[in-house]
Amino acid sequence: MKDFWDKRYSEKNFAYGKEPNKFFDLELRKLEPAKLLLPGEGEGRNAVSAAKLGWDVTALDYSISAKEKADKFAKETDVKINYIVTDLLEYQFPEDYFDAAALIFLHLDEDSREKLHELIIKSLKPGGVLIGEFFSKEQLKLNSGGPKNIDMLYSLEQIYTDFHTLDLEIFSRETPLLDEGDFHNGKAETIRIVGKKEIST
Ligand SMILES: C[S@@+](CC[C@H](N)C(=O)[O-])C[C@H]1O[C@@H](n2cnc3c(N)ncnc32)[C@H](O)[C@@H]1O
Repeated sequence: MKDFWDKRYSEKNFAYGKEPNKFFDLELRKLEPAKLLLPGEGEGRNAVSAAKLGWDVTALDYSISAKEKADKFAKETDVKINYIVTDLLEYQFPEDYFDAAALIFLHLDEDSREKLHELIIKSLKPGGVLIGEFFSKEQLKLNSGGPKNIDMLYSLEQIYTDFHTLDLEIFSRETPLLDEGDFHNGKAETIRIVGKKEIST
């Protein structure tokens, strides 16, 4: 899969455009800028936009060509991002560290998804916020983007199972009209989530 992403990002164009994902941007603007984690960040559209808002961004992705594009984009925009090339499943996530984390169209097989989502919850501080947008299994019949493998698309039940320990402010199925570069275009079937890690008493 890593080769697939390196090839996709070796094109001059930004695969998902340079503008942030709309849901991510809307929800992030409701929070006070602090430490933000972006796993599977790709070419940096969300990282650069968040850094412009004052967030201290850590972006993770295993694609070297993604990091090169993101770093260049950040430099041109005159912001700093901390972009680490790593396989998410091998990364040592710090615990109770981030004020927010966002998963935007990061799709993994079932075992990896469960494991990673658990690590991401652990990496949030108590009171930290998780923002997510994923393609749902209904996306398989559409050509507006996402994996063409039903096992890599998510159900509401799977997302609920992974994140039900958070205090859920948003948890819904949506049908947005995507306009994100060459690869996310048209009506889509997604799941959106915003949840806060409980402050233990
Ligand atoms: C559909 S792209 C989304 C990129 C970005 N979040 C955005 O919205 O523009 C999914 C990204 O996840 C990354 N990815 C997938 N599996 C990964 C893994 N195991 N470790 C690190 N990165 C991974 C890919 O390289 C790719 O950049």
